[in-house]
Amino acid sequence: MTQRQNLKIDGERLWGELMETARFGGTAKGGICRLTLSDEDRRVRDWFKARAEALGCTVTIDSMGAMFARRNGQRDIPPIAMGSHLDTQPTGGKFDGVLGVLGALEALRTLVEAGYETFAPIEVVNWTNEEGARFAPAMVSSGVFAGAFDHDWAASRQDRAGVAFGDALAAIGYRGAEPCGHHPLSGFFELHIEQGPVLELEGKDIGIVTGIQGIRWFEITVRGEERHSGTTPMPVRRNALLGAARLVERVNAIALARPPLAVGTVGLLEVKPNSPNVVPGEVFFTVDFRHPDAATLASMEEDLTAAGFTLADESGLTVELRKILDMPPVSFDPDCIACVREGAATAGLSAREIVAGAGHDAGYVARVAPSAMVFVPCRDGISHNEAEFSTNEQCAAGAQVLLQAVLNFDRRLAERHQR
Ligand code: GLV
Ligand code: MN
Ligand code: MN
Repeated sequence: MTQRQNLKIDGERLWGELMETARFGGTAKGGICRLTLSDEDRRVRDWFKARAEALGCTVTIDSMGAMFARRNGQRDIPPIAMGSHLDTQPTGGKFDGVLGVLGALEALRTLVEAGYETFAPIEVVNWTNEEGARFAPAMVSSGVFAGAFDHDWAASRQDRAGVAFGDALAAIGYRGAEPCGHHPLSGFFELHIEQGPVLELEGKDIGIVTGIQGIRWFEITVRGEERHSGTTPMPVRRNALLGAARLVERVNAIALARPPLAVGTVGLLEVKPNSPNVVPGEVFFTVDFRHPDAATLASMEEDLTAAGFTLADESGLTVELRKILDMPPVSFDPDCIACVREGAATAGLSAREIVAGAGHDAGYVARVAPSAMVFVPCRDGISHNEAEFSTNEQCAAGAQVLLQAVLNFDRRLAERHQR
């Protein structure tokens, strides 16, 4: 049997599949619009299932639509999983999430072609709705999988058109029979583009991801009164958009007050009735706060809540604030991190440790299985943008380290069982 260190993924084949699947939802500017549970998502899922089955894998789908493609190992123990997500932002790039699933598929195919028998079964996972662009919050299926979200709450989340997650999932034919979370894993590894500038700036090939910064998401509804724009004097107006604008400014200020790491974003805002000559009566918007330190993140939330109360007191508007995502900072498993570090060394690649700025499914999976991540650089650190780009060589390097990390972990499992 081929030595584990000598197994080599095929970078050209991986690149070909990245470009092939980028057609499902491909945009004129070279990105992808593949919102979760859309028809484009169904098509890429069908593609993934067919490819995995062609490799001899059994594909299981859980009740949140997560897909697990399994290749058996020597022992019938919980699998080592690797994967990420195939859904994208509305103006997403070709690599965010997709590299983690297709890189994992390429790693698995390398094992199949070499006839390499692992100790544990190996699985490739496609988590549902990592992005949170269509249904908030983000990372919802891995969150339910890890017990962070209630299953029925998650399934009842609605998109902006009022379609429930559970109905959209059934409509594309991917509501599986396995109850979400009833799928023990021995370990989980996620390959991803960095989505920031650090690796590129330092000329490093690989990021050994040691953790993820904390994330909190809020939904805010500001309510005032719809009135005629021509006849309603300024002093008597209760303009919901004006109130929301003040809070949007506060979100920015709250982050700026905690340099250099705090970030705060309002990325979605809806005005009702959205007519030029009606004083806005209701505004819905989202807030995304992130920081590596849990206490700082909590203080950002306190400031936001206080700003909501102040606005309501001063303006006669009502302000409703709901927290829909609260992911504390994550520290990955030291053993899994070591497997990634050794994997980069085996592949002869330069590497540094890094904390993820973006959210990732591995952050939730880490609650129920030892986990870690592999990062590769992306051009100018740009992501959530159609211009997002990593080279063929960078993607291949990441998939190679992913494969080695999984095999390192597999060997550790075998040793533990033999003791
Ligand atoms: C996922 O894309 C996130 O970091 O929000
Ligand atoms: Mn992602
Ligand atoms: Mn993303």
